[in-house]
Amino acid sequence: MAATALLLPVAAAAVLLLCLAGGSRATNVTYDHRALVIDGVRRVLVSGSIHYPRSTPDMWPGLIQKAKDGGLDVIETYVFWDIHEPVRGQYDFEGRKDLAAFVKAVADAGLYVHLRIGPYVCAEWNYGGFPLWLHFIPGIKFRTDNEPFKTEMQRFTTKVVDTMKGAGLYASQGGPIILSQIENEYGNIDAAYGAPGKAYMRWAAGMAVALDTGVPWVMCQQDDAPDPLINTCNGFYCDNFTPNSASKPKMWTENWSGWFLSFGGAVPYRPVEDLAFAVARFYQRGGTFQNYYMYHGGTNLDRSSGGPFIATSYDYDAPIDEYGLVRQPKWGHLRDVHKAIKLCEPALIATDPSSMSLGQNAEATVYKAGSVCAAFLANIDGQSDKTVTFNGKMYKLPAWSVSILPDCKNVVLNTAQINSQVTSSEMRYLESSTVASDGSFITPELAVSGWSYAIEPVGITKDNALTKPGLMEQINTTADASDFLWYSTSIDVKGDDPYLNGSQSNLLVNSLGHVLQVYVNGKIAGSAQGSASNSLISWRRPITLVPGKNKIDLLSATVGLSNYGAFFDLVGAGITGPVKLSGPNGALDLSSAQWTYQIGLRGEDLHLYDPSEVSPEWVSSNAYPINQPLIWYKTKFTAPAGDDPVAIDFTGMGKGEAWVNGQSIGRYWPTNLAPQSGCVNSCNYRGSYSSSKCLRKCGQPSQTLYHVPRSFLQPGSNDLVLFEQFGGDPSKISFVTKQTGSVCAQVSEAHPAQIDSWISSQQKMQRSGPALRLECPKEGQVISSIKFASYGTPSGTCGSYSHGECSSTQALSVVQEACVGVSSCSVPVSSYYFGDPCTGVTKSLAVEAKCS
Ligand code: GAL
Repeated sequence: MAATALLLPVAAAAVLLLCLAGGSRATNVTYDHRALVIDGVRRVLVSGSIHYPRSTPDMWPGLIQKAKDGGLDVIETYVFWDIHEPVRGQYDFEGRKDLAAFVKAVADAGLYVHLRIGPYVCAEWNYGGFPLWLHFIPGIKFRTDNEPFKTEMQRFTTKVVDTMKGAGLYASQGGPIILSQIENEYGNIDAAYGAPGKAYMRWAAGMAVALDTGVPWVMCQQDDAPDPLINTCNGFYCDNFTPNSASKPKMWTENWSGWFLSFGGAVPYRPVEDLAFAVARFYQRGGTFQNYYMYHGGTNLDRSSGGPFIATSYDYDAPIDEYGLVRQPKWGHLRDVHKAIKLCEPALIATDPSSMSLGQNAEATVYKAGSVCAAFLANIDGQSDKTVTFNGKMYKLPAWSVSILPDCKNVVLNTAQINSQVTSSEMRYLESSTVASDGSFITPELAVSGWSYAIEPVGITKDNALTKPGLMEQINTTADASDFLWYSTSIDVKGDDPYLNGSQSNLLVNSLGHVLQVYVNGKIAGSAQGSASNSLISWRRPITLVPGKNKIDLLSATVGLSNYGAFFDLVGAGITGPVKLSGPNGALDLSSAQWTYQIGLRGEDLHLYDPSEVSPEWVSSNAYPINQPLIWYKTKFTAPAGDDPVAIDFTGMGKGEAWVNGQSIGRYWPTNLAPQSGCVNSCNYRGSYSSSKCLRKCGQPSQTLYHVPRSFLQPGSNDLVLFEQFGGDPSKISFVTKQTGSVCAQVSEAHPAQIDSWISSQQKMQRSGPALRLECPKEGQVISSIKFASYGTPSGTCGSYSHGECSSTQALSVVQEACVGVSSCSVPVSSYYFGDPCTGVTKSLAVEAKCS
């Protein structure tokens, strides 16, 4: 009741605001069996996920513009409950959490929004997006037919909907939101919840619909989503998917553009040829809405990463990289795919598809209605290229590719033939003595007076510590207020104890994870950690004890709370035992001894990460401790000049968290290495992709570079604070900026023309030949030199091209002539310009250029 009473004024305010806003025209969004229908017209839409808290408000317009330039119509975001309601009933929609501002920024760019409220979101986000306080509501059971849970879920969902309505952001109000999601992939796990799970799912659907947003709702991965909710597909491929009713359109809410990174894992990537294939197959086979998850992945700032062990970088190998730079050729090739699909839109919305076999593993799909006709020709063979005959014409189809024919005759794009340019990126390391544009050093204190440090004491130091018999689960104890929980006990050694072998005893510590440090009498005795696939720790080592009182302090740390799976909210962490001393004559089980608990670090209580708070803890000395656990470090630096994205390379440090001017840039852990095996040098895009198919950086740190958003920096002096858990040497860290290195492209005579050269005038497509296009990535830049050009049979990749047996002598001069001194250029790939260095051979042009 109380909640309802509170909500009334918000709704009333919404109506008032609407009346005041007046101007914007309402858009009517419905659907039929083919597509979303916007103002009476079916639409073929391309969408991409950008999660607002994974970047900063100053980055949003640029990211959204790049998405628009990449051919997106819709931006999808989850809504993250935990950041909006950190304390029950206290809402926060400020700064990076300003959802309405994000939605408005999308509207300003002229794009639509798909708002996936969840409020369970998964998303590799801490606790799947649920605030921790939810767990402590008496009688609560998450994501099932449970009144306390449903009350809270409805309250928050209503709050979000009312906030959006209040700002006039639904399409029905003239705003950009055309679609909304409730729950998330519940169908993947609902069997575990039995009949109450089904009842909950139906309740969630009804609750959402009753919120009366005026736009359709979807449930992803929910085969039995009740009408009018649309059940949608998530996965690497969704062309085989069919919605659960003949009146619903085929929609793909998560096309995974890559995969997420774990600390201790290799770096996943997904070749764009395969991603483009999946996209084209989806539209070929009747889909009309697909969303890249992620289009920009961004950064898991603060302690927002899920777990366990989700890394701080959420780059995802997305078309826009973590830092906000376009990733080429991924972004460019997908833009071309989107343009090709859009050329087909008139045919796609006019009719249903009809498919025919073109031989084994080859399929044509035609959309023909009256004077419009579009066709897709697919070769789904993972190995062999094919030549097929379609409408009396021969078409070459590379293995695992789709050709798109917006007029049913001419191929404007093949998903395996990339016309887009490729760029390499360069991390520029800044020396501490590098002079910034304002004349200051990057790290003056480091160069001049070094680092200050503060020692985090071992064991219990807070007054509010709690003593209890037995071992307590960590998340129930800390409520995730900190990653850290101290478990402390002491034992009285007489000398003839059965668990002793001389002065030694074997200590066993079993923990649910995620990271453990063992201290005996104030000294580190060892540490252990779980992994993303198994967070359990069983630590066993001989320790040395002294006669009399001995202190055992165990520091348990979480690295992101679980975010996926049935009952993920109940997956525990911390030292639940047994904890045991053993020797030749017996054992001492400490599991039910008296333990004293301390939640969090003393430095956290003292806000050592906040430079505005002066603390006597800090010691300024050139002789700061290195490679010792539990140390806070602090220095000052000057922001790197210019506007290139900034990162810190934490090589040299162990594991910890870092703050820039008091804002957390997330956990760092450069010593957590990927397994030695499982990587491939160059990943074959042909054949079905899976998250472990294409991995990089085996045997290397999962993540060394950590993004520092530009808006965290200020002119003049900036503060950097680190909390180091394991031990490291902060003098080894460096600041880096990220920029585009070379700009390259390789286009063959067999490629279709550049998509932009296809002119549709009165359904007649005119073609020019294939061309290689280069464009400098930054405004104001021009192509300053051509580092490599070869026409013939060049091989290699950007930065390491080499001439083949066949190569024209004129390549360099022709390309220089066309490209040097301009910001973009287009060079026809044809022997007409280069001479024919080898008749009868399919030739290609490869170029590497520098922009400055
Ligand atoms: C899906 C989920 C997303 C995300 C993705 C993996 O199952 O819906 O939120 O977690 O997996 O990145």
